[in-house]
Amino acid sequence: MVYDESSDAYSIQTINLAKLFRKKKHKGIFGFLKRGNKKEKSETKDVTVALDHVNLKIRTGELFGLLGPNGAGKTTLVKCLSTILIPDEGTAIINGFDIRKQTTLVRASLGMVIGGERTLYWKLTARDNLMYFASLYKMPRKRIKKRVDELLEKMNLLERADERLEDYSTGMRQKVAIARALLHDPPILLLDEPTLGLDPTFSRQIRNQIRELSKKEGKTVLLATHYMEEADELCDRIAVINEGKIVAADTPDRLKAMVKETELVEIICYNPPQDAEKYLESLCPDVEIITLVRGEEAKGTPSRIKLMGGNAEKRVGTVVDALRKKNTQITSLNISLPTLEDVFIKLTGAKLTEGGRGKSQ
Ligand SMILES: Nc1ncnc2c1ncn2[C@@H]1O[C@H](COP(=O)(O)OP(=O)(O)O)[C@@H](O)[C@H]1O
Ligand SMILES: [Mg+2]
Repeated sequence: MVYDESSDAYSIQTINLAKLFRKKKHKGIFGFLKRGNKKEKSETKDVTVALDHVNLKIRTGELFGLLGPNGAGKTTLVKCLSTILIPDEGTAIINGFDIRKQTTLVRASLGMVIGGERTLYWKLTARDNLMYFASLYKMPRKRIKKRVDELLEKMNLLERADERLEDYSTGMRQKVAIARALLHDPPILLLDEPTLGLDPTFSRQIRNQIRELSKKEGKTVLLATHYMEEADELCDRIAVINEGKIVAADTPDRLKAMVKETELVEIICYNPPQDAEKYLESLCPDVEIITLVRGEEAKGTPSRIKLMGGNAEKRVGTVVDALRKKNTQITSLNISLPTLEDVFIKLTGAKLTEGGRGKSQ
């Protein structure tokens, strides 16, 4: 099945979905030794708006990205859709079923990978993990065996299917987690950071697999990620999420076109000054946005300074001179093509790679 951009058949639809978390301040393990009035000790609560009235429509067969930094609300959204969390306001319709009222039917329509490898039994083999989870779907035993073999083959795990997961690599365990999500052949997949922390080879294999599930098998996929290249490469459309709000939703090309008209200069360098952004901003008040993305310079990845909008191109000379004075080694200079990172910066003023409210996944 080919995804149809003009279709108005939706497999996932969220309606004003909102979720708050009340954070209890932890007193620490020796908290009981601390004096103070009773009220103060545990009732100072912060409220985090994890989802702020999210309205999304994801078409049947669409590979839809949810892109945002750590703490943006991606996992919370995926958990609400999969009925693990109950929203505070609003609801969502999955495959025609309401997540509040038709939990069982919603769950039967979905396969999900949340938390990945950590949710499997490491003392069991890959095959036994899959056999066990399949048995929860009450399939006949013969069918279970066949399906498990099929999936082990699909994920290229057959050869080592009878080894315990504790002897697997992270990437292989992640493949088992994806196979588990596919056991009951659901039409919809919710994938929360499926390539988090994987090496490039496994990331590539898993991304190819996701593309195949969407394009060959016609599954509707919601892919939550903070890797912009992943969203850019795979997704038909992307919703950009920040602090619980959807700030834009469109095709990757159209999102990037939003910043295309603005001038964009990239300076690749080593050893930029600590306060590079502030320093350069003070020198070039007529450039709209100046950002520094630090590279892992010790490993040979340079840092990047970007000038966006306003008189970015005209100010290149000033910026280069100023950086040289501060002992920055400039290796190259481009008028760059916009990335989703630039879109994110333009929309939120924050950085996708470093921004975010918390370290949660
Ligand atoms: N169980 C929880 N209790 C309190 N706060 C939470 C909880 N889960 C998530 N949060 C907060 O909600 C916000 C969104 O988190 P999350 O959905 O995990 O973001 P993401 O997956 O995009 O990194 C964050 O600020 C996070 O700290
Ligand atoms: Mg997360």
